[in-house]
Amino acid sequence: MTEKDFLPKNYENLPIKGKTTWKAPSNIALVKYWGKKPVQIPANPSISFTLDACATTTSISFEKRQKGNDFSFELFFEGKPKEDFKPKVNTFFERVEAYLPFLKDYHFTIETSNSFPHSSGIASSASGMAALSLCLMDIEKMLVPDMDLSSFKAKASFLARLGSGSACRSIEGLLIEFGMHDHIPGSSDLFGIPYPFEVDEVFKTFQDTILLVHKGEKQVSSTVGHQLMHGHPYAENRFQQALQNMDALKPIFANGDLDGFIKLVESEALTLHAMMMTSMPYFMLMKPDTLAIIHKIWRFREASKVPVCFTLDAGANVHLIYPEHVMETVHQFIDDQLAKHCENGHYIHDGVGLGAQKINS
Ligand code: DP6
Repeated sequence: MTEKDFLPKNYENLPIKGKTTWKAPSNIALVKYWGKKPVQIPANPSISFTLDACATTTSISFEKRQKGNDFSFELFFEGKPKEDFKPKVNTFFERVEAYLPFLKDYHFTIETSNSFPHSSGIASSASGMAALSLCLMDIEKMLVPDMDLSSFKAKASFLARLGSGSACRSIEGLLIEFGMHDHIPGSSDLFGIPYPFEVDEVFKTFQDTILLVHKGEKQVSSTVGHQLMHGHPYAENRFQQALQNMDALKPIFANGDLDGFIKLVESEALTLHAMMMTSMPYFMLMKPDTLAIIHKIWRFREASKVPVCFTLDAGANVHLIYPEHVMETVHQFIDDQLAKHCENGHYIHDGVGLGAQKINS
């Protein structure tokens, strides 16, 4: 599919007004998306577990107006007007307008909230842009009622990507691949697809406990971080490594190879941070408590043989990931050894989820 496939035919009969609500989950990448070309084209393919508990719920109320030159919308975050989110939404509307030509025909009231605590250091751009895109797709579906479900999801993912690359992996569950890979049928730089190969049952109920080491603003936004891969001395090797890791995951997923999974996932997390440490300017996003947690995970795994590992996003928080059958032991380990490294002892238990849901009002 190309961009042209997402351009709609002419609409007739725009509805006067309405409201739609979607809840979209966050996701955690196993092979990381880090580096992109304009507009929102990933430098390498990535894959993530869709999460469940960490999610954004967004409602859009829309009311027909005289078509204007600008977008017309108000934005509320957790019930309060949120001016500083508006430029990001405006840029998103500009990027998607060609694919949703009704945008300037309406005034929108966007109300959004997250299930995870405000300023927990968890990025909400993936779940937020996914929920927003799904609401807009719902409006388009009213205009094109015969749109099938797979086209609906592909276009929602396509639009979400234009808001935030990783958001295109937050439409469906359980494992979503994003980015062209010659050996992955259906893969695309334009939208995410459900991982098309065999996946052992053990991975379908994986758990993710997010250890909130640092809840403040990130030192570097991912948008700025991606730019640092331009002219980065190790960029080309990194992109090649991601391609190889996607190949290596195929037998790992098929055979339920937890040892292979752990090595690959931890190496990806550390590579992401190595890229940040070796860019110019350079960043160190791990905190002393991040490192303390990693060493404790390694010691615990060595001693107990429990298949638990970590991954990181572009911040100090640690995602502890493990199969459901070791959940009790891992929860005990968290309480005994890891919670003390979290800000105010806070962590969030989450797990692999089925994807976004429409909320009927
Ligand atoms: C480290 O999707 O947040 O989480 O496209 O600029 O919005 P933009 O970036 P974003 O980047 C995600 C970076 C990451 C890795 C990943 O999720 O694959």
